[in-house]
Amino acid sequence: MTIKIPSLTIGDITVPIPIIQGGMGVRVSLSGLSSAVANAGGIGTIAAVGLGDVITAKSDFEKVCSDALALELRKAKSLTDGPIAVNILGVLSNAKDLIRTSIREGIRLIVSGASLPLRLPELSPDEGVYLLPIVSSGRAADIVLRTWDKRYGRTADALIVEGPLAGGHLGFSMEQLKTPEKYSLDLLLPEVLEAIKPFEDKFGRKIPVIMAGGVYTGADIARLLRAGASGVQMATRFVATHECDVDPEFKRAFLEAKEEDIVLIKSPVGLPGRAIRNQFLENLESGRIDKIRCPYRCLSTCEVATAKYCIALALINSSVGDMEKGLVFCGQNAYRVDKIVSVKELMAELVAEIEAA
Ligand SMILES: Cc1cc2nc3c(=O)[nH]c(=O)nc-3n(C[C@H](O)[C@H](O)[C@H](O)COP(=O)(O)O)c2cc1C
Repeated sequence: MTIKIPSLTIGDITVPIPIIQGGMGVRVSLSGLSSAVANAGGIGTIAAVGLGDVITAKSDFEKVCSDALALELRKAKSLTDGPIAVNILGVLSNAKDLIRTSIREGIRLIVSGASLPLRLPELSPDEGVYLLPIVSSGRAADIVLRTWDKRYGRTADALIVEGPLAGGHLGFSMEQLKTPEKYSLDLLLPEVLEAIKPFEDKFGRKIPVIMAGGVYTGADIARLLRAGASGVQMATRFVATHECDVDPEFKRAFLEAKEEDIVLIKSPVGLPGRAIRNQFLENLESGRIDKIRCPYRCLSTCEVATAKYCIALALINSSVGDMEKGLVFCGQNAYRVDKIVSVKELMAELVAEIEAA
């Protein structure tokens, strides 16, 4: 018996497996992981944040980041013919520059979140470049699509809906995160499908909805597809792959994490984030953290004078395995990770589970 799982189509790009590997900064999802996912039948994503030797470069911040991203994109393209997306946080002071670089390097899928990407179409007006805003509610979907319609006469090419169990920065308040069940993906999906209907009618095409945050098994994926999602975005599971670009110590933190080690933090970005409790977080709690010296303003929302730590530096440290000084972002399900596998094995396991479900 052959069972076909639904493919995922965004514009003229179709992949056989409806899974997008979520962008993971800093330096967690680069050319190695993203190309492996694209080769295995999904969409791989490179996180554009914090690339290049920004610590020693000090000046020419934009050029250093942009050159490093271009290099990474070329590397990915040399490893796969499959689709690669770039994830660009809207709060980056050089977001515009990174989008321009991505498009110049032939990237056709731009994902943007960590604030409502209301001006994204202005930053990437090119035809044939697909824009995927990240939202966390039906209301946010409506605001983004209404603004894009009014200002730019265009709509999203797909929407990524990130729930409260996701990793990295979260689009929910600390108060909301105390009751994540109120914002489960199963509740968010119908709300978003309803919110996008008027725009699908007006623009005469489907806006694929991709669900993210706590999607762990093929059964989770099958349930969301049945409920009307066009695909899922997953990140935590891809950390535990051989191809993931981050230091093995970072992966080890996932393997060793227990449920009680997964905590919410206040990030200098101005949003809550989810991370694994470690020496760095303990030092932070007890005030034993180096003072910030910020030669560049990488985040437009960072209050350098009052920020307790430099998040860019803390994420760079963990990406190279310095766990004492490193912040380890993770999804709520990181404690379920118990082995490192290849991307091919992980994708095959998920497909088999989707078929079985
Ligand atoms: C280590 C890590 C880093 C992340 N960095 C980013 C990022 O730079 N930009 C972003 O939009 N999302 C980021 N995310 C969120 C993921 O792209 C994804 O949407 C989310 O984690 C999905 O939930 P899951 O981890 O439960 O699969 C990050 C997640 C993790 C685990």
